[in-house]
Amino acid sequence: MKEIRKIVEIGRIISNKELSADVNSLLLDCPKIASLAQPGQFVMIKNEMGSTYLRRPFGVADVNQESNSLLLIYRRAGKGTQELARLNAGADISVEGPLGNGFSFKDDGRTLLIGGGVGIAPLIYTARHFAEKMPDYKPVILLGVRNHKELFWSSFIEKYSERLVFTTDDGSYGRKGFAIDAIPDILREYPDIKHIKVCGPTIMMKGIAELAAKEGVECEVSLEKRMACGIGACLGCTFAGKSGRRWKVCTDGPVFDGVEVFG
Ligand SMILES: Cc1cc2nc3c(=O)[nH]c(=O)nc-3n(C[C@H](O)[C@H](O)[C@H](O)COP(=O)(O)OP(=O)(O)OC[C@H]3O[C@@H](n4cnc5c(N)ncnc54)[C@H](O)[C@@H]3O)c2cc1C
Ligand code: FES
Repeated sequence: MKEIRKIVEIGRIISNKELSADVNSLLLDCPKIASLAQPGQFVMIKNEMGSTYLRRPFGVADVNQESNSLLLIYRRAGKGTQELARLNAGADISVEGPLGNGFSFKDDGRTLLIGGGVGIAPLIYTARHFAEKMPDYKPVILLGVRNHKELFWSSFIEKYSERLVFTTDDGSYGRKGFAIDAIPDILREYPDIKHIKVCGPTIMMKGIAELAAKEGVECEVSLEKRMACGIGACLGCTFAGKSGRRWKVCTDGPVFDGVEVFG
């Protein structure tokens, strides 16, 4: 069995800011985990002052190894995240990680990063990593959001992109419709795209993985399942892949080959 090198560290809140009606950014002083985390990995956090018992999983949105900080971007979905949003700078939370296997990196072609909703969060670190490794060959980034009130993502990610495309459900900014609708035009414009990496709602990832398979472009998807332990012990996050193999999202993923998940 693979050894899981996880750390539990107290993260001191540097800032906990509202970015929109239901999304916050949380910047933590968390040096050990910040120094180890790779793009696409996640952490499990626990607010010791809160009332929820289980840790909650969040993708690593970015790290800064000079300032020892770890950035998470979270949607205030339920009790745990609403309680988290009430914490101020200086408060401590328990952070466990970095966990799971993140996105693979290949330099044989351009990468298209696609995010939907709060699934955009782990793509920030991924985009920065790709842009730093291949400065002349930055990723094209496609973000699907509900409306123009979610354009705050651009301030985190635009600088790492060759081109940033937004789709909005209501057409209030960018192209009206879903992210998948924009892909054929992007692939025509950038024939050097060889890899797609996507994080967002399951229905969105399924459609994109199927389209990528048809177009002959390699596709990785980052899955979200309810997680209790995050370290492969409770079996709460398993699913059967198309190969017949059973996978644990927390330790085998959260990033998987799109064909193995969606066929
Ligand atoms: C690998 C991974 C990475 C994630 N990254 C992010 C991220 O970067 N930003 C972000 O906003 N959210 C992320 N999530 C989802 C996030 O974990 C849940 O929104 C959060 O746990 C909700 O906690 P809550 O107490 O506020 O809500 P609850 O009241 O517990 O539930 C509210 C909603 O959140 C879902 N949820 C609750 N607990 C979990 C859980 N343990 N795992 C998955 N879904 C859950 C429920 O299905 C429900 O729809 C990620 C989930 C996983 C598995
Ligand atoms: S969350 Fe417990 S095995 Fe994955």
